[in-house]
Amino acid sequence: MVPPVTPVDPFDLVVFGATGDLSQRKLLPALYYRCAARQLPAEARILAVARRKLSDSDFRTVARKAIEKHVPPDDRPEPALAHFLSRIHYFAAPANDDAGWPELKSVLAEHPERIRVFYLATDPELFGPFCEKIAAHGLVTEQSRVVVEKPIGRNLKSAREVNDEIGRIFPESRIYRIDHYLGKETVQNLMAMRFGNILFEPLWNSAHIDHVQVTVAETLGVEERAEYYDTAGALRDMVQNHMLQLLCLTAMEPPTSLDADSVRDEKLKVLKSLVPITAENAADRTVRGQYRAGASPDGRVPGYSDELGRESHTETFVALRAQIANWRWAHVPFFLRTGKRLPERVSEIVVAFRHIPHSVFDGNAGHIVPNRLVVRLQPNESVKLWLMIKDPGQGGMRLQSRALNMSFAEAFGGRNPDAYERLLMDVVRGNQTLFMRRDEVEAACRGIYPALEAWGAEDEPPKPYTAGTWGPAAAIALIERAGRTWHEDEE
Ligand code: BG6
Repeated sequence: MVPPVTPVDPFDLVVFGATGDLSQRKLLPALYYRCAARQLPAEARILAVARRKLSDSDFRTVARKAIEKHVPPDDRPEPALAHFLSRIHYFAAPANDDAGWPELKSVLAEHPERIRVFYLATDPELFGPFCEKIAAHGLVTEQSRVVVEKPIGRNLKSAREVNDEIGRIFPESRIYRIDHYLGKETVQNLMAMRFGNILFEPLWNSAHIDHVQVTVAETLGVEERAEYYDTAGALRDMVQNHMLQLLCLTAMEPPTSLDADSVRDEKLKVLKSLVPITAENAADRTVRGQYRAGASPDGRVPGYSDELGRESHTETFVALRAQIANWRWAHVPFFLRTGKRLPERVSEIVVAFRHIPHSVFDGNAGHIVPNRLVVRLQPNESVKLWLMIKDPGQGGMRLQSRALNMSFAEAFGGRNPDAYERLLMDVVRGNQTLFMRRDEVEAACRGIYPALEAWGAEDEPPKPYTAGTWGPAAAIALIERAGRTWHEDEE
């Protein structure tokens, strides 16, 4: 079934950093798909901005290459691609110079009433300077909004400074901080499952849930992103944002509605309830690792420092035990782990229920395995509910653990739209539900960044792990010390 498409209102989207990696890999393909689905009204314009002097036609060639690389051939018939490219116009306008800005201004001034989106797909250090230039050239209207990517700041102090810089020009109601995990179909399904069914909510608490695991594993290394990555590391790149957002959606109280502030208020409460990592508890609650040369599904791969070209203490793997100090989650550990160059690409949330309080079965029934709900975010999006059932046939009451398995591809078929497609259209619609509010970002920094100080104080290099393995052995020890094991899919 083709999902219904509701066209958005006419808009001008200005993409700063248009020749960069994010724009090429994510934004242009996402806009292409929305255009091909006829969601963009005829008047909508895409104004690409970068430093280099290029003509419209030069930039369209760059954009064509990006789309040919990232969109499969069957999805890009030439007329659709040519039509999309014809809607893009290019401007050379840097953050530190006024050249090019008057041209951009005069094109925008043709439709002063229109929704205006400024997408800062640039180095975060340029968020402030670009916002200032946008304001100085009089481009901010009542209908303007700004979109920024992570990482926002390197620590709480710098996150506040970046937020202040953006906030001097745009009110919070018009700032869209992207965490692309929130736009993923299965991440939204977490809310659908929790709040669209009566089954789970009565059990969703420490009385019935033993622990929760969140894994985001990647097989890729850092490759050509090494320079950026070395300034971030896994904690800033993945944990402070994507992983904590997954934790929030799993742990938050039901919001009164799906409006932006109701949802974000509930997520904020979770972030504020995180028991902070401190110098005293970091060794027990966190593990950081860095990959060495080894094997990936694509063959032999170099280690992190070889890719970077120098030694570094930046972590490419983090495992941690988070604790949420509130009534619902008292004493329920949340185990998070993420890393580059792990054996498989898999993101999933595992909700592990408690043991049954009393067994009516005799010893021949076998071991009763506690129920688990496994939400697979990617790849092969699915929801599995592990249940005990009777082994069919003779031989008395023998039990086995089997999964009720709903694969999204089998149930719904079709293409799973990329998160950026939804998020870009939400910006145009003015819907902030799937974007992070300032206080959320700062609470996430407060909850998690003390780990950086604790690690810095230890001044030990991250623990090495061989590419193609599940991280340092200490990550296994971390969960085993708490009497649990990392989930392994048995089917
Ligand atoms: C990005 C990180 O935000 O998310 C990358 O900067 C990471 O390092 C990526 O690879 C993972 O996203 P996805 O959608 O491929 O799971």
